[in-house]
Amino acid sequence: MSIRIQPSILSANFVNFERDFATIADADGIHVDVMDGHFVPNLTFGTGMVKHMQEITKLPLDVHLMIEKPELWAPKYSELGVFSVTFHFEPCSDAAATAKAIKSHGSRAGLAIKPGTPVSAIEHLLEHFDQILVMSVEPGFGGQSFMNSSLEKISLLRDLLDSSGSQTWLQVDGGIDLQTISLAAGAGADTFVAGSSVFGAPDRNAMINQLRTAGELARTGQ
Ligand code: DX5
Ligand code: ZN
Repeated sequence: MSIRIQPSILSANFVNFERDFATIADADGIHVDVMDGHFVPNLTFGTGMVKHMQEITKLPLDVHLMIEKPELWAPKYSELGVFSVTFHFEPCSDAAATAKAIKSHGSRAGLAIKPGTPVSAIEHLLEHFDQILVMSVEPGFGGQSFMNSSLEKISLLRDLLDSSGSQTWLQVDGGIDLQTISLAAGAGADTFVAGSSVFGAPDRNAMINQLRTAGELARTGQ
């Protein structure tokens, strides 16, 4: 199984994305954290900036919406033509319909759960999604420590996806570094968001490649 590394631009320089994107060319995609100051206390950017991000990189954009009313906003991001749009289960009034709307514009649809949300809450929704995101920190800020409680959720989701023959990606976001990626990959995750560990490294591409290797080793060692 292939391992994907997606640096989170929450740790990048917000007034110099073009320069920072050029330093992560070895990534499998760029994770774009959209925060509204309501669902999470932090605030980042909206559709206008994401539209222009597409003009300065060839890497696929993986948009992570940490916003209220995702059913209204998620389709507007997929209309921009981004690679994937992930929204949170917790504030969404109709997750299946929102996934359908995202996919109708050609983007992959993702469903995210906060650390306090159990897998059982979304089990019935898995079939509608191309990727599932397990948050391993409380969403809102970069640089937090990985929560080991996410590992059980990753294992459970891996079993559920495998038992139905699903090709849905299993993504983890928060506190991923060279140590924690092995834990998360060993539990069954295949797609990794890494903010501070990549952007804080002296050679960001080297760190991306080291993370990918560590993830592959942990997956094959199962
Ligand atoms: C947190 C964001 C993450 C964040 C990860 O709410 O969703 O994508 O940037 O940052 P690190 O890797 O530093 O924990
Ligand atoms: Zn994120």
